[in-house]
Amino acid sequence: MISGMEQQLRPLVARLRAARAVTVMTGAGVSAASGVPTFRGPEGLWRTFRPEDLATPAAFARDPALVWEWYSWRRAKIASCRPNAAHEVLARWSQETTRQVRVITQNVDDLHLRAGTRDLIRLHGSLSETRCFNGCAAGVRPWRDEGAAAPDCLPRCPHCGGLARPAVVWFGESLDASDVERATQAVSCDVFLTVGTSAVVYPAAGFARIAQARGAFTAEINLESTPASPLVDLSILGPAEDVLPAIDQLVL
Ligand code: APR
Repeated sequence: MISGMEQQLRPLVARLRAARAVTVMTGAGVSAASGVPTFRGPEGLWRTFRPEDLATPAAFARDPALVWEWYSWRRAKIASCRPNAAHEVLARWSQETTRQVRVITQNVDDLHLRAGTRDLIRLHGSLSETRCFNGCAAGVRPWRDEGAAAPDCLPRCPHCGGLARPAVVWFGESLDASDVERATQAVSCDVFLTVGTSAVVYPAAGFARIAQARGAFTAEINLESTPASPLVDLSILGPAEDVLPAIDQLVL
């Protein structure tokens, strides 16, 4: 390991050792090493696809087959991906009993779940779940569904028979109130880590500032600087799949 990095990590390691409550918020960058495309990176999804055509309720109402085709492609993509070292470190931390480690994610790929993360807070839903597009009372609760949607036989709500949609949060939609509530509680912690997110999408992008205002030591891990970098106590430039295992080794 590069000693320069070790030196830079020291203040964070000291805080993690003393912490009773740690919260880690992740974005697409934490899954990049697993082969899941990010959104705004060089090969990012929003460089190739227009969110307004694929990730809004209006886009779905206009052309549900097109939207399902895209989400089926993404489902197949993540089905071929495996959790990486970053997911594994966070899963192990979340299982500890000596201190409370909570993981908040913006990712819809469920790789944190597959790595064994406990009590994961998923802000933007899951690609592997489906729910009723009409929002019928019974169909609001998502059900597990990893399959591809056949263009001539789109998924239907088993309760009202209406169209079903991927259970992810689309642009212009509000997040699930209970997820936001859990995340807002988790932001009260001793150490808050933001990992692999461009820090431009709210409410997630606002959590580092709230955590800091509540007294947490805040740190960011990213390949490049983001709007959160000048705000946090420590900005670490490096790949999450290398930096998190390095931190884990130093904390032990
Ligand atoms: N390690 C650490 N950071 C990385 C890595 C890596 N291996 N690879 C990429 N990154 C960083 C990029 O530098 C970028 O800052 O991860 C960030 C990914 O940013 P986005 O693609 O914007 O993804 P994210 O921040 O998760 O997007 C937030 O926007 O499109 C919506 O709902 C979608 O949840 C998503 C939200």
